[in-house]
Amino acid sequence: MTATSDYTSPTSEISETIGGPSFAVISGAQVQRVLQGRERQIVELVEATYRLHSAGDSVNPPSYFLRFPDRPSARIIALPASIGGQVRVDGVKWISSFPENIAAGIPRASAVLILNDHDTGYPFACLESSIISATRTAAHAASAAAWLSRGRRAHRNVGFFGAGLIARYIHTFLVATGWSFREIGVHDLSVDSAAGLSRHFTQSGASGRVIVHDSAEGLIRSSDLVVFATTAGQPHVTDPGWFEHNPLVLHVSLRDLAPEIMLGSSNIVDDVDHCLRANTSPHLTEQLTGNREFLDGTLDDVMGGRITPATDRPVIFSPFGLGVLDLSVGKYVYREVARAGDLRVVDDFFYERRRH
Ligand SMILES: NC(=O)c1ccc[n+]([C@@H]2O[C@H](COP(=O)([O-])OP(=O)(O)OC[C@H]3O[C@@H](n4cnc5c(N)ncnc54)[C@H](O)[C@@H]3O)[C@@H](O)[C@H]2O)c1
Repeated sequence: MTATSDYTSPTSEISETIGGPSFAVISGAQVQRVLQGRERQIVELVEATYRLHSAGDSVNPPSYFLRFPDRPSARIIALPASIGGQVRVDGVKWISSFPENIAAGIPRASAVLILNDHDTGYPFACLESSIISATRTAAHAASAAAWLSRGRRAHRNVGFFGAGLIARYIHTFLVATGWSFREIGVHDLSVDSAAGLSRHFTQSGASGRVIVHDSAEGLIRSSDLVVFATTAGQPHVTDPGWFEHNPLVLHVSLRDLAPEIMLGSSNIVDDVDHCLRANTSPHLTEQLTGNREFLDGTLDDVMGGRITPATDRPVIFSPFGLGVLDLSVGKYVYREVARAGDLRVVDDFFYERRRH
């Protein structure tokens, strides 16, 4: 059974609640209990959602970036979206990125996801969403790794460029979807972060020799699967020569690679219009060249057999990250928590129920 077929008929969440609209709060602990160990199901769910989106059964406007003159490194992004199919839900992810949090000992990103009922518009749940966000990102990355590595030699060495939470989740999803590695390389500007992630790999019993690379070049040249998960705001990897072994690159952090590298590679994105915004590397490449010819297509094109990933050049997957993926995973979590009878409904949340 796939994750998507877990959904019952798409009736209104609200009509299921006797006495009118209700509102539930789902904690990070509840989210994690639902998602942990279900990596393969979530990859299937994310792929199904992505297919729905590509078929036009979604509304996914551009993300809105809230920035602050007094805190230039911080941002909060709103990702409103609506997804059809059997998921049938609207909503918004509201995700903060405060990189200075790391020095204070807490994760950079924090998030909530609001789910709105398809038929009435009423919000019916608020979910802790940093786990949902990391999960859907890792699931999408694992899906891309599987589809884009077809026809290539087996990937034996993975390199994590940027050693935070997202790198950890992506490794978990790669392993859960069948990857095993001879070497796991780690590179980070922060010695502590590199040490923390490599300690996690060692202590969690990950297979493969764990190597911390002081040099960015060393990491890339020794990895045939490279995962970028940094917080870099502008390109810092500029030498195409580092990629002459034609690695598969999961460019999850979107802003690490200079246009010269994009231009020498096969480029796959999740959604063209989304990805060519907000000064991502694909966006900078479009600005430099004045066209989109450097883009080969989307992951859906690859999944649908309309394009075959190149094997004679580096392949770079740049996923902007779509709100519809958060909605799908969030609705899945909601359903599972409800099915277990564990929904924590806030009594009287919607209080003014009569018009007159
Ligand atoms: N595309 C998507 O859908 C998607 C979804 C979620 C997160 N992300 C992105 O993934 C990235 C990582 O997120 P996280 O939560 O793991 O962040 P994090 O802050 O936990 O870790 C990021 C790490 O990158 C390191 N770093 C920053 N600049 C670097 C550089 N130039 N070279 C080497 N290391 C560098 C930092 O020291 C830090 O350890 C963020 O940019 C985030 O926006 C993308």
